[in-house]
Amino acid sequence: MQRSHYIGIKQIMTNSISLSYKNQDLDFAVMQGTLGSECIDIRKLYSQTKTLAFDPGFMSTASCKSAITYIDGDKGILLYRGYPIEQLAKHSSYLEVSYLLMHGQLPDDGQLDDFQSIISTHSLINTGLLKFIEGFRYDAHPMAIMIGTVGALSAFYHDSTDISNPRHREISAHRLISKMPTIAALCYKHFLGQPFMYPSNDLPYVPNLLQMLFGVPTEKYVVDEDTVKALDLILILHADHEQNASTSTVRLAGSSGANPFACIAAGISSLWGPSHGGANEAVIKMLSHILQTGKSIDYYINKAKDKKDNFRLMGFGHRVYKNFDPRAKIIREHCYKILDKLDTKDKPLFDLAIELEQKVLQDDYFKQRKLYPNVDFYSGIILKAIGIPLNMFTVIFAMGRNVGWISHWLEMLSKDEHRIGRPRQLYIGEKARDYPTK
Ligand code: CMC
Repeated sequence: MQRSHYIGIKQIMTNSISLSYKNQDLDFAVMQGTLGSECIDIRKLYSQTKTLAFDPGFMSTASCKSAITYIDGDKGILLYRGYPIEQLAKHSSYLEVSYLLMHGQLPDDGQLDDFQSIISTHSLINTGLLKFIEGFRYDAHPMAIMIGTVGALSAFYHDSTDISNPRHREISAHRLISKMPTIAALCYKHFLGQPFMYPSNDLPYVPNLLQMLFGVPTEKYVVDEDTVKALDLILILHADHEQNASTSTVRLAGSSGANPFACIAAGISSLWGPSHGGANEAVIKMLSHILQTGKSIDYYINKAKDKKDNFRLMGFGHRVYKNFDPRAKIIREHCYKILDKLDTKDKPLFDLAIELEQKVLQDDYFKQRKLYPNVDFYSGIILKAIGIPLNMFTVIFAMGRNVGWISHWLEMLSKDEHRIGRPRQLYIGEKARDYPTK
């Protein structure tokens, strides 16, 4: 490669970075946030040099400015609007956290009451959507139904799809938070072939979800307080996680001006993959598989370390957290409490999970690569312990993350500088050639 093809860093000053390219010096501003890494503003890189930045997987790319969530992956810090996740997990509730993420401040008592009441009053869905759901095959994965149904909301709620109208944006946000438990429960009831339970507006958010999931019209459903606490905690811990794959998908979809329901459906699709939100389901499938085969944990740990084998230990590793995942630390404690109380047929599965966790934490391969159990390792175990069916795990994650997606979508649309997201590429295909004519 010729020397002139390098962009060399000449100098870094406090507020700018000077690069040399083809004997030309170029200055790029260095941007500072309130916390975290500084960013080199390369927006003019292409117009000034006709070169692009190459960063597959976005290892070194900040795609936007955001004031919602902050993560320090080395120190294991996660803040929602400045509040440490540990404090929110201890003192707050999912709906209060939702208000905080959307509005930037914690609500006072009156604001929280109003918010809860607004959220509860939007919980019904148009009956046309029930017929839509009935059209899915009986054994459709609830995530597939959820993606379709959330996208289909845009065909039923036209009065909140004008994204240039702040009031429309607000109503669609409320509708999405309110209807998500109803849709989640519908997906599950369809899968079971059981009658749909209507939402109860006099029940709080999580008990309402539980009665729609597990209640049947013939019996009174009694909500278990420990289950409510565990589920509320899981929703808080999953509520936002800055520019992860699904949130970036929502932003990218929204950047073209797509309606909010379509954007959130896009986010749910991205979440479904096993490297992201699908990992909680994959953890339990992996543990069940290990139990069924009767092979040792060491066999699977070695398999995960084998570069010729694409098997990975689900629930371990994270792109950003390289010390520990603070969500995993919180949920781990809760997990142990729940497992202590537990006397179920799933005990061998949970014992296996704990043994695997202990072995991985001692293993050099995982230590060197800073691969620790992530939130999905423990959330899968808790969800199973409290009776949430396996195919609903990622649906629960989507319910929690819903408010994070909405908050990012609202933030993006409120900024003047937002423009359509349009990454470029390094083209490695055929050069221009002529179509063969006879
Ligand atoms: N098991 C075995 N090896 C692993 C694992 C794993 N779970 N995760 C990463 N590695 C190895 C990987 O092979 C690579 O090794 P080497 O440097 O020798 O090539 C190294 O660790 C770095 O991995 P990477 O794939 O470059 O890391 P990434 O930041 O691109 O991927 C990840 C992060 C979460 C996708 C990955 O760790 C993974 O696939 N984990 C399992 C799936 C999982 O639990 N996902 C949930 C993530 S947390 C919830 C969420 O945010 O959605």
